[in-house]
Amino acid sequence: MHETVGAPAGDKPGEKPGEKTINPPANLRLGIPREVFPGERRVAITPGNVEKFKKLGFEVAVQSEAGLAAGFDDAEYVKAGALIVPEAKALLSSADVVLKVRAPSPGEIAMLKAGAFLVSFVMPAQNPELLKQLAGAKVSTLALDAIPRTTRAQKMDVLSSMANLAGYRAVVEAAAAFSRPFTGQITAAGKMPPAKIMIIGAGVAGLAAIGAGRALGAIVRAFDTRPEVKDQITSMGAEFLELNFHEDGTGEGGYAKVMSPEFIKAEMELFANQAKEVDIIITTALIPGIKAPVLITAAMVESMRRGSVIVDMAAEQGGNCELTRPGQVAVVHGVSIIGFTDLASRMASQASQLLGNNMYNLIESMCGKPKDEVKAFHIDLEDDIVRPALVTHGSDVTWPPPKKPVPAGVDKPAPKATVAAATSAPHAAKSKSGHGAKSGPAKGSKVAVFWLIASGILWWLGTVAPAEFLNHLTVFILACFIGWQVVWNVSPALHTPLMSVTNAISGIIVVGAMLQISGPVEHISTWLSAVAVLVATINISGGFLVTQRMLKMFRR
Ligand code: NAI
Repeated sequence: MHETVGAPAGDKPGEKPGEKTINPPANLRLGIPREVFPGERRVAITPGNVEKFKKLGFEVAVQSEAGLAAGFDDAEYVKAGALIVPEAKALLSSADVVLKVRAPSPGEIAMLKAGAFLVSFVMPAQNPELLKQLAGAKVSTLALDAIPRTTRAQKMDVLSSMANLAGYRAVVEAAAAFSRPFTGQITAAGKMPPAKIMIIGAGVAGLAAIGAGRALGAIVRAFDTRPEVKDQITSMGAEFLELNFHEDGTGEGGYAKVMSPEFIKAEMELFANQAKEVDIIITTALIPGIKAPVLITAAMVESMRRGSVIVDMAAEQGGNCELTRPGQVAVVHGVSIIGFTDLASRMASQASQLLGNNMYNLIESMCGKPKDEVKAFHIDLEDDIVRPALVTHGSDVTWPPPKKPVPAGVDKPAPKATVAAATSAPHAAKSKSGHGAKSGPAKGSKVAVFWLIASGILWWLGTVAPAEFLNHLTVFILACFIGWQVVWNVSPALHTPLMSVTNAISGIIVVGAMLQISGPVEHISTWLSAVAVLVATINISGGFLVTQRMLKMFRR
């Protein structure tokens, strides 16, 4: 269902039932206010984005000095075609679509016009009161932090783009607070051992921290509750810390889940041993929407060498270290515990550029399909990105979203997006028992019927088909089964090497088919050989192309 933004909804001639007025962006004003949250330096969009929004047809209004802290002055916005509005009230009360970084303050909400569409960080699970205020002001709100981390949503995934920068920055902050270089050296004046870093949680931020730590020459170890990240950790040159306790941290749809108290106890024993050895600990462990688990105790901090550093990236959600003070640096027993909650904002220029691109991709995806005559902006409640992230709609609080089962293989979580959208994990966990109980037997009976029919067909074939055909069929079915098992059980991180194997198989197919292709034209095997050569050649050249593109990503 499509609904109006910025103007009262009303049925128009030619509209389908349930579909309301869609405004061309030319009628809509996009407003970018200056952030008022203390210490926030980022801005929602950059001058580069202004031009793109204007091409979509929006009028863009930016509050005076909104981008200054991120390195973009008013003149750049004006040059890109934006209108500069001095006061927040004039800007917010006139904008149909407001793009912000931090959640709006009560004062800002009061300035927004009824029917406006707001995009910003919201943290709906933690801020029910804010949702009520936004609904009270009749503002439809899309929470950036609730955009599902699916393949289609990757280009709008602000959590990933910010966590990526923050993971890097965590290492930089650790390096600044640490009194030795990270890289080991032997000099005439003496030996410098390399720094040892332990990273807890290898999601987006954790992997970025591994990359930055390794690039600075440190020895990096990492731990995560999801065993599938082991390949990612080792492929980045870090050591995966193994725990002698078997519990898979992968929740529904490949997302992280809350671990049992026994598991947490076991991993804390591992961390207690590591704390005595390592110089730096960077913690990122978090289940979205839930308070961060305390994994580093005061006793562990005390056991670390003086001058060591802990960067607690989960500080905003309570922190993974017992002694973390959110937003501050605490020094306890000579160990610096960095609890900054604005790591991405500390690289405001780059963060704003990524944020602006994420915002543009989101708004552009809400502006109709290229084939549509008018590039219309609308809120599509059927959209699998918009609906989960839409936390208020008009005067309704629309969070949490209704749970929609994702058909297997249609849109799996993106490879790097390893956890659920900030808010959906608890619901995923809850629904597991309810849904699973119902769908299990129904699915089971369908499978049984399938196998019954398949066995019937095979039995019939066995009675009528010649023996030679049956031999070939047996080999074919076994090959399909083994091939399916092999491919299905390969972890996504190994799909690229797997592609090389399929290239080798395609090579064999090409050779075999070329031997058969010279038969008589009227013979079906000649045509099948030709098709086999064509398909296998496409597979080989496609494989080379994709491998080439992937290799390019790693070349400097
Ligand atoms: P993510 O959800 O991608 O990764 C978190 C990882 O922690 C997951 O791989 C999960 O499996 C793992 N994990 C969960 N419980 C664990 C446990 N008990 N033991 C070990 N591992 C566990 O999250 P992302 O995007 O990488 O962000 C990480 C953290 O950084 C979050 O807390 C996020 O809020 C925070 N963050 C902080 C910023 C700051 O300025 N301080 C900026 C951006 C993100």
